[in-house]
Amino acid sequence: MASGQMSRDEALECTRCRHACHVMLYSETASQLFGRIPIRYIVLMQMRFDGLLGFPGGFVNPSEETLEAGLTRELLEELGVAVPVSTEDHVESCFSPPRSGTCSSSSRLILHFYVKKIEEEQIREIEKAAASTAADHGLEVLGMVRVPLYTTKSGGGLSCFLSHSFIGVARSQLLNSLLRLHLVSPGDLREALRGSQRRHA
Ligand code: GTP
Ligand code: MN
Ligand code: MN
Ligand code: MN
Ligand code: MN
Ligand code: MN
Repeated sequence: MASGQMSRDEALECTRCRHACHVMLYSETASQLFGRIPIRYIVLMQMRFDGLLGFPGGFVNPSEETLEAGLTRELLEELGVAVPVSTEDHVESCFSPPRSGTCSSSSRLILHFYVKKIEEEQIREIEKAAASTAADHGLEVLGMVRVPLYTTKSGGGLSCFLSHSFIGVARSQLLNSLLRLHLVSPGDLREALRGSQRRHA
């Protein structure tokens, strides 16, 4: 485990800590952009009320609900669909960084991250509900967005997406997940990161 990281059980031993759970929902897809660029995977993120990109989820009180039940409750509020998330979907837990950067133990918020693969049809249902019946629509959540994993001829796509601003460690959670699940090759990801840095310069 990387420094600052802990297991789910270790994290729960800190009863004075606040806890927040977020999940990356994704599916395979056969659709092609412009009928020629394979989209391959749909990865869901959201535009938050603060203008930052992040994953759906939120604060959970482990004395009242399990982490996973709390996450499912947050998903119902933010997506309008109670997507069930289980301990098997847990990826990592770490202390929230004081500002930005890597995880450190100096703050008292513990972030739990989950990844769950679902069907493309479920993604469409979530997008529909998130834009209509979800309690938080237009309030805490301004809209769901799909992450472009490809790079266009003009260098757009993933590199442009990565040049936006993200909440907390959501950007590294995204990058790590794309690599670990082989949704983007290491070479393509390196290229996209180089492109996103150029965009900031
Ligand atoms: P309220 O209902 O207003 O309390 O919001 P919420 O429960 O939906 O909480 P939120 O999703 O804002 O998450 C709580 C905290 O977790 C945030 O203040 C951030 O510090 C952090 N956070 C939010 N989104 C992400 C994310 O995608 N990844 C990570 N690592 N942290 C996040
Ligand atoms: Mn068009
Ligand atoms: Mn919420
Ligand atoms: Mn939230
Ligand atoms: Mn909440
Ligand atoms: Mn809320």
